[in-house]
Amino acid sequence: MRVPRSEGDTIPKFYVTTPIFYVNGAPHMGSAYAALVADVLARWHRLKAEDVFFLTGTDEHGTKITKAAADAGLEPKAFTDQMVLKYAEMWKALRISNDAFIRTTDPDHEKAVQEMVRMMQANGDIYLGEYEGWYCLYEETFYTDLQLNEGKCPDCGRPVQRLKEKSYFFRLSKYQDRILEYYSKDPDFLLPKSRASEIVNRVKGGLKDLSISRETVAWGIPFPGDEKHTIYVWFDALLNYVSALGWPGGERFKTYWPADVHVVGKDINWFHSVIWPAILVSLDLDLPKHVLVHGMWLADGEKMSKSKGNYVRPEDVTSKYSVDAFRYYLIREKPICEDGDYSDEKMVARINGELVADLGNLLNRVVSLAEKFGGKVEGEPELDDFLYIESIDKFMGEVDPHSALEEVWKFIRAANKYVNDKKVWQLKDAEMANALYNLLESCRIIAILVSPFMPDTAESICAQLGVKLGTLEDCEFGPFEGKAKKGNFLFKKVDVK
Ligand code: MSP
Repeated sequence: MRVPRSEGDTIPKFYVTTPIFYVNGAPHMGSAYAALVADVLARWHRLKAEDVFFLTGTDEHGTKITKAAADAGLEPKAFTDQMVLKYAEMWKALRISNDAFIRTTDPDHEKAVQEMVRMMQANGDIYLGEYEGWYCLYEETFYTDLQLNEGKCPDCGRPVQRLKEKSYFFRLSKYQDRILEYYSKDPDFLLPKSRASEIVNRVKGGLKDLSISRETVAWGIPFPGDEKHTIYVWFDALLNYVSALGWPGGERFKTYWPADVHVVGKDINWFHSVIWPAILVSLDLDLPKHVLVHGMWLADGEKMSKSKGNYVRPEDVTSKYSVDAFRYYLIREKPICEDGDYSDEKMVARINGELVADLGNLLNRVVSLAEKFGGKVEGEPELDDFLYIESIDKFMGEVDPHSALEEVWKFIRAANKYVNDKKVWQLKDAEMANALYNLLESCRIIAILVSPFMPDTAESICAQLGVKLGTLEDCEFGPFEGKAKKGNFLFKKVDVK
């Protein structure tokens, strides 16, 4: 696998984002999933020696936050200052390797949002009107009669209220054709592709202008030129992807925009696949290359959510097992676009099967044999026949880390099979040197391949092999240059009595 190195070689950039999280509650397993998918992608592209920028952050304005702050007996800003720490600390604990963390209360972000509104006022995309519709306080979204589900909010099922107020509007309707044209020109924009048809049909059904200001919401960014209004929280939030890069003027913006991948849950697909592109076209900016829409983690068949409180706390899982087991499970358990229930039994089965019996056992056997052998480890590559880096990289390029991880496991299993088929423990001299050469090199390469998914495990493997973690370029069989030294088991078997 070639990665750019030499001078004059252009280094591709890779800009990946998570949604910015509402701070009305602590992060849960669903929030962690979005951050983890983006993290795995960022780490993979760093392995390819690309210039990666990974952004995450928090969405701090609007009614939802005002309500949560009032419940906590705090002013919104004091509340968000407290809550944001829960996200920053959780991401650190889960080894999320973001390069920046944006808060929508950052003064630079607020200035950028006001600048966006001014630009749209100047280009005629914003006008003052009156809005009447069904409003869900919780989702901060207006719905039409048709969208309601038995008279209730179609997203969260809560009662909605009829609201009429003066509001500034964004001419979303104007962009209907441009958006459809974009979808037909770039069929990979929305991934997985199956999600695109529902969006396209909805856009074909007609786009209404979007109400983008509120007179009734005090906790928000003041609307330029009419400070009775605050800017609608979604209009403020979406801009984070460019304001964090210093848009309009920033160097980072020039380097990293357009985003390569926005990772988003299917519940916020519309905002990213229709409203965000329209905003970008209005501002004359390039559109992101991909929006990756993932499925939901469920608890007893229902979406885990902060408001329902029916969620799994990541810290409960990581303290019982490990951070890497949690990371592994989230990516491996379900295809990215599907929904899935969290199950402790399945988690344990994966730990005992894939992590302990496949990976942990392989390293343990190989390092034990190598320590005993003592001779020079050398030979001809044989196990490289089972290593499909191109195919792993292809899956990662298609933002499908779930399938990439399965492919990595095929190689781990091939290495275990090699130990068994050759009865390596019985080999002697040159035959043993050759088998160990193959196995140690395989383990070294496995460390690199699992590092985006399980960074701590990758480091432990390298420590036991006496090698440094390489890049994707080093995933080729070369001479083994480490010195094996047995350490702790990578994973503990869970007793399932
Ligand atoms: N603040 C908005 C996003 C603005 S982005 C410009 C928001 N925040 S959120 O905290 O409610 O959700 C953040 C992300 O977490 C969303 O992508 C959402 O889909 C994801 N998840 C929330 N619950 C989830 C599950 N139960 N399972 C998987 N992901 C989930 O929406």
